[in-house]
Amino acid sequence: MVERVSTGIARLDKALEGGVPRGSWVAITGEPGTGKTILSMHFAWAGLRVGDPVVYVTTEQEFRDVLTQAAQFGMHLDEFPIYSLGWRKEPEEPPLIVVVDMFGLLKIARHMSERSREGEKARRYGVLSMDTLIEAINEAYDVLNVSQGGKGPGRHVRLIVDSMSAFWSDKPVMARKFSYQFKIAAHRDNVTAYLTSQYAMTTKSTFGFGLEHVADGVVHLWMDDVESAREVRRWLIIKKMRMTNHERRAMRLEVGKGGVSLVDA
Ligand SMILES: Nc1ncnc2c1ncn2[C@@H]1O[C@H](COP(=O)(O)OP(=O)(O)OP(=O)(O)O)[C@@H](O)[C@H]1O
Ligand SMILES: [Mg+2]
Repeated sequence: MVERVSTGIARLDKALEGGVPRGSWVAITGEPGTGKTILSMHFAWAGLRVGDPVVYVTTEQEFRDVLTQAAQFGMHLDEFPIYSLGWRKEPEEPPLIVVVDMFGLLKIARHMSERSREGEKARRYGVLSMDTLIEAINEAYDVLNVSQGGKGPGRHVRLIVDSMSAFWSDKPVMARKFSYQFKIAAHRDNVTAYLTSQYAMTTKSTFGFGLEHVADGVVHLWMDDVESAREVRRWLIIKKMRMTNHERRAMRLEVGKGGVSLVDA
């Protein structure tokens, strides 16, 4: 029996025979403004409501803005204990949300660079480098006590990285290699992940196609050409999902008061 993890969107769970198979790495791909971030918020919110800890990496905005935006959709993430890796102090209580934002990444990159200077070869770690991201995720797992290799009774954890493409924006040809490196280092049996990836509108796949190969599932979002449609008309399709059957028709994606809703078309 494949255990299911709710996406937080009932219609999407139904399209996936109950949800994402536990332990999957799901790429959420799409152009700007198609709903990737809001979809990720639903995933986090659904987890928190059943007691799953969340590791939330955001390169796009300050986490405070994530909280504000989620609250507009009735998802009050800040009702749960939060700890940010960017803070100076240690967590006072075991958090349910571990935040990795640009401040956290910057702090970790600095530490890693300092540590390397004590060793044989000094190195400068970039804020948006894969090494920095991996170190950050591992620190977040430590805060949450997620066991190495997924062995042992580890609690189910949800990981969100919004966005992965930020880590290869200056070298899109590295997308596939980085995606592998990241999965090998950060995958655990008890971690189910949402990884967002931006598509360049004109060149589509060239903007770091690679995550899609490594991911267990791909949920793709797009919008109709706004000039001919004269409106923002968004779509969602499940392109692949290992370990499960899934619906293969695109659904209209609407963003409203309660966040994302999916409508059969
Ligand atoms: N309160 C709201 N009510 C209705 N629609 C909203 C609301 N807030 C945001 N939206 C819509 O959602 C869109 C943003 O969705 P989201 O941030 O998830 O996109 P994204 O795919 O993450 O984009 P990017 O690649 O730029 O990060 C906005 O452009 C807007 O059209
Ligand atoms: Mg976004």
